[in-house]
Amino acid sequence: MKAVVITSPGGPEVLQLQEVRDPELKDDEVLMKVKATALNRADTIQRKGLYPPPKGASEYPGLECSGTIVAVGKKVSRWKIGDEVCALLSGGGYAEKVAVPAGQVLPVPHGVSLQDAASLPEVACTVWSTVFMISRLSAGETFLIHGGSSGIGTFAIQIAKYQGAKVLVTAGSEEKLAVCKNLGADVCINYKTQDFVQRVKEETGGKGVDVILDYLGASYLKRNLESLNFDGRLFIIGTMGGPVAEVDLRVLLARRLTVQSAGLRHRSPENKAVIVSEVEKIVWPAISAGNVKPVVYKSLPLSEAAEAHRLMESSEHIGKILLVP
Ligand SMILES: NC(=O)c1ccc[n+]([C@@H]2O[C@H](COP(=O)([O-])OP(=O)(O)OC[C@H]3O[C@@H](n4cnc5c(N)ncnc54)[C@H](OP(=O)(O)O)[C@@H]3O)[C@@H](O)[C@H]2O)c1
Repeated sequence: MKAVVITSPGGPEVLQLQEVRDPELKDDEVLMKVKATALNRADTIQRKGLYPPPKGASEYPGLECSGTIVAVGKKVSRWKIGDEVCALLSGGGYAEKVAVPAGQVLPVPHGVSLQDAASLPEVACTVWSTVFMISRLSAGETFLIHGGSSGIGTFAIQIAKYQGAKVLVTAGSEEKLAVCKNLGADVCINYKTQDFVQRVKEETGGKGVDVILDYLGASYLKRNLESLNFDGRLFIIGTMGGPVAEVDLRVLLARRLTVQSAGLRHRSPENKAVIVSEVEKIVWPAISAGNVKPVVYKSLPLSEAAEAHRLMESSEHIGKILLVP
């Protein structure tokens, strides 16, 4: 099969489509013929050699895909050859075929094309497992999403609105904020021209928000803590603004704050299956009913993976970028 190979750590040009061996199918896996895969920021970090795949995972990038099942492992009962599905991967999506544990496979939600379904598993499982399963965002609470126009952000806005939260977002341009508003965001903050802490306070009667989803990390830590209500929860899923910060613990103490962090990729297959199962039960019906929609910015051929990475690193995009073999 053909797959995108990281020929050496470096810039987008190191991504090359090459002929490689087909994946081997384990008993608890299905083999998918890939219809599309979607980019994630993590892929760009893997490309630079700073985010190696977990032990046993494919060396090719790609954390999610959609496609058709072409072979089924001996221990798999739920899926059969010919099923059109999408899947959460530990790697290997940038390829014509990928093997994936059966517990990480999801049906294509009603009303979503097979190609666009590739944009859903990573954002749905990340946002559901953090904001809802751990930080317990509930109806009537206030929720701040940093980077509302990102793949993660565009999904988080929609599912949080569907769950009945008031949603505040930050983004770096008026165009991006307009899209966030269209997706349902109640309060749109341009972080380049406005102080988000001040806006959050104004919009919440001085109290602060109940939950924050953040991927800036160190550069936003102090201001995020200032933006939280009593019993507020900060969930950090990335460190685009740096990994090391200092905290005045008295701020947490005084307002009973929780700071948590988690990565999806290094969870065990069993752990991922629990998340995928909950996502299918709770999130998939919202998508099938049209309350949450995939936000696809652009689809490129798999052979243009380098161009797709350039686009992602330019941060021009809004939502997800797809690669199609
Ligand atoms: N922990 C996990 O399991 C997990 C899973 C998935 C994703 N993530 C993380 O979630 C984040 C978003 O991922 P994604 O794939 O959705 O990314 P994405 O679509 O590429 O979006 C990232 C956005 O971040 C903003 N940005 C870029 N550099 C910035 C900076 N220095 N300061 C502030 N904002 C900046 C840009 O929007 P603006 O123009 O508005 O700045 C950009 O569009 C990444 O950090 C990723 O690693 C974590």
